[in-house]
Amino acid sequence: MKKTNVYIETFGCQMNVADTERAATRLRSAGYMVVNCADIADIVLFNTCSVRARAEQKVFTRVGELNKIRRSKSFIVGIMGCVAQLEGESLFNISKSVGLVAGTQATDRLPQLLERVLTGENNVIDLAERQSGEEWNVSTAERHSPYVAFVPIIEGCNKFCTYCIVPYSRGRERSRPASDIVKEVIKLKAAGYHEIHLIGQNVNSYRPKTGEGLELFSGATFFSKLLRAVAATGVARIKFTTSFPRDFHSDIVTAMDEHENLCNWIHLPVQSGSDRILRLMKRGYNSSNYMRRVEEIRSGRRRYALTSDIIVGFPGETAEDFNSTLKLIERCQYDSLYIFKYSVRRGTPAANLTDDVSIVEKSERFIMIEKLQKKIQAQINNSYVGETVSVLFEGKSAKSGNDMTGHTTCNKVINIKDTSNLEGTINNVVVTDAKVNSLYGVLVENCP
Ligand code: SAH
Ligand code: SF4
Ligand code: F3S
Repeated sequence: MKKTNVYIETFGCQMNVADTERAATRLRSAGYMVVNCADIADIVLFNTCSVRARAEQKVFTRVGELNKIRRSKSFIVGIMGCVAQLEGESLFNISKSVGLVAGTQATDRLPQLLERVLTGENNVIDLAERQSGEEWNVSTAERHSPYVAFVPIIEGCNKFCTYCIVPYSRGRERSRPASDIVKEVIKLKAAGYHEIHLIGQNVNSYRPKTGEGLELFSGATFFSKLLRAVAATGVARIKFTTSFPRDFHSDIVTAMDEHENLCNWIHLPVQSGSDRILRLMKRGYNSSNYMRRVEEIRSGRRRYALTSDIIVGFPGETAEDFNSTLKLIERCQYDSLYIFKYSVRRGTPAANLTDDVSIVEKSERFIMIEKLQKKIQAQINNSYVGETVSVLFEGKSAKSGNDMTGHTTCNKVINIKDTSNLEGTINNVVVTDAKVNSLYGVLVENCP
């Protein structure tokens, strides 16, 4: 009998990428064929994101496009992920091709859910929580890269920052047993993976149940113990995102100082430099607490790259508040910055505030930050010229087919002019040139 073809398209964050890999693993082991093209699929699953209006809109656009392209051949659309969890039943109204809505915790039940759709049941929906005994494990065959692997360590969020939808779409925090994480990293290392990203909405809230494998490791927090445990596997490179500033314990920097394979990059989203706005956002820290963390990072043994997220135009953000953000960015000297315009999310506490910073003002503020950051980034990147960095080459550059591209341990994009096959290897590279968003270099052995 012909297998049913399923195609999964992913929007949003690394957690969604990891969930897609997990869904593909479950589907393939249940006998489905997971394909990489929507045109030939019997079932198209969209793994969706709700973090901002624009992200949410994508799924509606894509369902429309697909209906047009596929007019002649019948197919079923399934909506999974954050939009599914939040919008539920109403998603069946967007098109008659939508036959399944599966929330963020239904990943492991997709085979049974699709079975019901295929046997003729209409409007199948599952918004329930993860169930006991469901596994986090993912087959290497389904991973997004053969060299870099995302390993979720904690799901959900308990922080409830006032602007953010994630606690509603992902539910409360659930930590994965440490022994399970370490086992997976050992398996990935044996399969040739060089870089592991430990992922979670707040990795430093990691809190497994007792007796789950951290007893042998020292550390002031569960997360810093976990870092030491994962470092001990000897896998070449370990990165982690996202760190929540309030819970960023100095022992994390100590653990990174101790272990070379804990990569020299920290993503510590600040969101705003104004204490008044930080309070309205309920972030649980002010700018001086935050700067203290930055100083701890700066006084580490290695040079740690620091990156951040900023929201411009939060309700009530004045020119003065915005100036505080500019000042903080200047002080922090971030290696890179993700800037977002505030987007009202229905059901969040901030949605009750007036979204009073105009679109024009949000754009102006966005551009001002972008300009400042470009200047800072150019300076920082220039300071790497002449330095030797370790690079994991991940493939040919999308911009210039002959260049090889990869990431440094500090997570900067770096390209080299080379036609030989370096893909999947780690090499020392001397930085020869710097752009705002990337570095250029030559292999140490080819250095004049
Ligand atoms: N857990 C992470 C962030 C997850 S969402 C943390 O707390 O840092 C990723 C980023 O999206 C956030 O850091 C924030 O900058 C942005 N974001 C979240 N909700 C937003 C909203 N309603 N409008 C604009 N940006 C938002
Ligand atoms: Fe959203 Fe705040 Fe949780 Fe991050 S910590 S996911 S911004 S609620
Ligand atoms: Fe988006 Fe959900 Fe991730 S809202 S950012 S896909 S947790």
